[in-house]
Amino acid sequence: MSALTNPVNWILAAVLGYISYNFFAAAAAPELPPPRPKLPALVFKEYTPKELTEFDGRTDDTRILIAVQGKIFDVTRGRNFYGPGGPYGNFAGRDASRGLAKNSFDSEMLVPVDGPIDKLEDLTDDEKEALSDWAMHFEGKYQHVGTLVENKN
Ligand code: HEM
Repeated sequence: MSALTNPVNWILAAVLGYISYNFFAAAAAPELPPPRPKLPALVFKEYTPKELTEFDGRTDDTRILIAVQGKIFDVTRGRNFYGPGGPYGNFAGRDASRGLAKNSFDSEMLVPVDGPIDKLEDLTDDEKEALSDWAMHFEGKYQHVGTLVENKN
């Protein structure tokens, strides 16, 4: 029996082929970005609008917090939405209530961080309802980590 007709050689060749394919495929795979640093758990607390701005996710090891109807949510795992360059990046570290109520992520929806908290008194009933629906969305998806309180003088 020649080497070519021996079935043992065929099996050996198939196994060798399989191993080399896996080896080269792994070598050619694109390098994955390093895993994000794990952030420590947050203790529930009060944040002023000014303090909240620290949590705008500008770097990989910064948490992203947003305020909705006076509640602060940790939206860090929604970095694709709220991180730099994300569609809702304007909301990071800010009170997003007015924008959510009015369905707009424009910067005019954000009140100045050194001013009083937006009382949202001018919202229509539909806008108030939209805001409450969003608040429920955030309650269901993200951790409620604090309360928005007025800036200290
Ligand atoms: C241009 C039109 C828009 C498109 C195509 C769009 C698309 C989307 C998509 C695909 C999602 C993800 C849904 C999911 O997987 O759960 C999403 C979520 C969201 N969108 Fe929009 N959106 C638009 C406009 C807006 C506007 C104007 C706002 C302003 C308030 C907004 C606020 C949000 C928020 C807060 C979320 C939830 C993100 C989260 O769960 O953390 N979107 N949008």
